[in-house]
Amino acid sequence: MFETLSKAPQDKIFALMAEIAADNRPGKIDLGIGVYKDDDGNTPIMTAVKKAEERIVSTGKTKTYIGVAGNKGFANAMVKLSLGDSVAADRVRAAQAPGGTGALWVLLTLLKRANPDATVWISDPSWPNHKPMAIAAGFKVAEYPYFDPTTRGVRFDDLLRTLDGLGKNDIVLLHGCCHNPTGANLTHEQWDQVVASLKRTGAFPLVDMAYQGFGDGLEEDAYGLRAIAREIEEFVCATSCSKNFGLYRERVGCAMLIGKNATEADTANSQMLNVIRGAYSQPPDHGAEIVRMILEDDALRQEWMDELEAMRKRMVHNRTALSEAIRKRSNSTDFDFVADHRGMFSLLGLDEATVDHLKAENAVYMLDDSRVNIAGLADERIERLADAIVSATR
Ligand code: LMR
Repeated sequence: MFETLSKAPQDKIFALMAEIAADNRPGKIDLGIGVYKDDDGNTPIMTAVKKAEERIVSTGKTKTYIGVAGNKGFANAMVKLSLGDSVAADRVRAAQAPGGTGALWVLLTLLKRANPDATVWISDPSWPNHKPMAIAAGFKVAEYPYFDPTTRGVRFDDLLRTLDGLGKNDIVLLHGCCHNPTGANLTHEQWDQVVASLKRTGAFPLVDMAYQGFGDGLEEDAYGLRAIAREIEEFVCATSCSKNFGLYRERVGCAMLIGKNATEADTANSQMLNVIRGAYSQPPDHGAEIVRMILEDDALRQEWMDELEAMRKRMVHNRTALSEAIRKRSNSTDFDFVADHRGMFSLLGLDEATVDHLKAENAVYMLDDSRVNIAGLADERIERLADAIVSATR
């Protein structure tokens, strides 16, 4: 049987993670996969998470099945966290899913059932897993313009022109905040224009919200999603707790659908649950229960918010420090954009030869398109990284 198969392409993010682990050079700088690291290079368990976990272990009474939609308290809390009060609760249905990627998969499969002929529009560039996932779900895929390599900002006029030309058979995959890989984000005014365009054309929004709280703050980062919710009758959203709760390996995400009315939402929800039951029956509970407990407990929630805010501020600090360190050495403003970007990533705009050179000569690792994980930078490495970038780009 297996002789019929040819090798599948490796995922470049996880391939790079293995390559970095195999490099024994002291002082290597890992700017690859999107995980937050402290100054010692560790990805700590957040203190609120640890406390919730201890409570679950000491008070838990059962490991029996929880149901196809997973942890309902978790799903309700996630809906509040991301959507706030932007949409009437009777139009929202949500299911816990195994990570943000699992949530995306559930929603893409649901959308394929709803409109098999649709095209999924993905930003150019986007998270490397978006396109393969949409193709695996059976969709045609197209790209909308997003990043301007000259200004390192958003090509907003081109983006809007493309969106304006779409219609009811188009699904637009939007990054809710903290665009991955570029770090260039829409302003509130630009979000409003995107929403007006979607409303005009009837194109269907699929929002990937993987970094809420990593950009400008929990509320600020939800601006675009909530603007969609206020104006658009139906859409879906995948959220993730990998980054903002540091629960990467627990796989905690939420698939949300918003229908025109409660009846349509119920029907779509029955299909969503049918998708889940036919794939993995129900999601694992542990990570979701941690999040539920934190979000429902005032003290734990505050502790989590404080810790998240400290992480966010450190990323902003890393951005400013790196762009200043480069400016000091190069006497140019070429990398000032790093300070303006938000979220975990920035696309530096280096060619592949320079990326390879940095890896070989300086043990500096980034994705081949020069995406760097700003949250992976320890303070003492910023100067060294600036030296390496300036000498490689001179
Ligand atoms: C990333 O983009 O590095 C993260 O979202 C991890 C992943 O799953 O790709």
